[in-house]
Amino acid sequence: MTGIEKTLKGIKDGNITKDGLTFLLSIPTREEFKPVFDESALVCRRHFGDKVYIRGIIEFSNYCRKSCLYCGINKANRKVGRYRMTLEEILEAASYMKKCGSLTAVLQSGEDPGYDKVVLEAVKRIHEDLNMAITLSIGEREPAVYREFIKAGADRYLLRIETTDHDLFRRLHPDDDLEYRKKCLITLKKLGYEVGTGIMVGLPGQSVGAIADDLLYFIKLNPAMVGIGPFLAHQDTPLRNHKNTDIFPTLKTLALIRLILPKSNLPATTAMGTIAPDGRQQALKIGANVIMPNFTPSKYRESYKLYDNKICISEEYGKCAGCTTAIAKAAGKRIVKSKGYSKNT
Ligand code: 5AD
Ligand code: FES
Repeated sequence: MTGIEKTLKGIKDGNITKDGLTFLLSIPTREEFKPVFDESALVCRRHFGDKVYIRGIIEFSNYCRKSCLYCGINKANRKVGRYRMTLEEILEAASYMKKCGSLTAVLQSGEDPGYDKVVLEAVKRIHEDLNMAITLSIGEREPAVYREFIKAGADRYLLRIETTDHDLFRRLHPDDDLEYRKKCLITLKKLGYEVGTGIMVGLPGQSVGAIADDLLYFIKLNPAMVGIGPFLAHQDTPLRNHKNTDIFPTLKTLALIRLILPKSNLPATTAMGTIAPDGRQQALKIGANVIMPNFTPSKYRESYKLYDNKICISEEYGKCAGCTTAIAKAAGKRIVKSKGYSKNT
C-alpha cells in the first residue's frame, strides 16, 4: 500500500490524525490526489445519491460592526454604499425563491444587530406564511438573541470559525475572539439549530497544519454543514495585495471534510465559482451536495462584494436558479426540491 492508501484506510477505520490530514493536504498534484477525490465522491454518492440540495440566499444588509481584514464589507470600507433591505423586500425575495424551487431561505448579512427586529419579523413570516426552512448567517449574538430567533422559526445557523489558528484568527479579526466564536457555535447547537461552520483556505500565513487542526475541530463540533471557500483578495481591504490561491487546496480540504464527516452538508460555494469558472461543478463532483443560488435583488448585489470579481453580480434577477440547475447537471447530479434537513444527527 502507498502512503496515501494507508492514510485513507486509517481515516476509514476512524484513525484520524493531524499528521495524516497534513500529509494528504500536502499532496502537490491532482494526479496523486485522485484516490482521495475518488473516495470522497463515492462517500457523497453513498449518502446523498445524485441529489443536490438548493438553498437560496438573500444578502439583506451589508452594514457591519466588525473589521475583519479580509472582508470587503468590513466597517472600515467607506467606499461601499450601505443598504438594508426592507421587510417587504426580504419577503418578496423569499417568496420568489420558493417559486424557483428553493424551500430553504438563507438570510445573510454583515454583523448588524441593529436590524434584528426586522430580521425576527422576516423569520416569523417566512416560517409561518411561506412554510420554508430558514438559515441565518448574521454573525455573533448573545445566547438570548439566538434563542429568540429559533423561537421565531429559524432552523439553521451558519457561523464560520474562519480558522482555528489562534494567532492567525487574532491577526485577521482585530475586534473578535476565537474562544467566543467557539462558544457561540456551542450555544447554537445546544439551542437546537442545525449548525454550519467553515473556513477560508489560502489565508495569508495559514499553514497546512492549521487546516488539519481546523478539520480536527470539525470532528469535535460535528456540525450539520461545513461551508468552505478559497480566500480571495478585495481591493479595498488591508489584504488587497495578497495573492489568491488555485482552487486545488480548497478542493482537497472539501474532499477530506467529506471523508471525516460523511453525512454533513457541504456546499459548492460562490467563492469556489469565483476562483474557477467551473469551480462549483468540480466541488459537486468530489463531495459537495448543496448549492446556494443568489436571490438578492439585483440593485444591491454590487454592494455585497466580500471579495473582488464575485460572480452573479450583474446577472438578471432569477438567473442563478437556472444556472445552478445546469451546474448540478454538468456535475452528473440533480437539484431536489426539499428542505434538506441534516442527516448528520
Ligand atoms: N474571500 C473569501 N471568502 C470571504 N468571506 C469573507 N470575505 C472573504 C474573502 N475576501 C467569507 C467568510 C465569511 C463568509 C460569509 O464569506 O468565510 O464567513
Ligand atoms: Fe448566479 Fe450562475 S449561479 S449566474
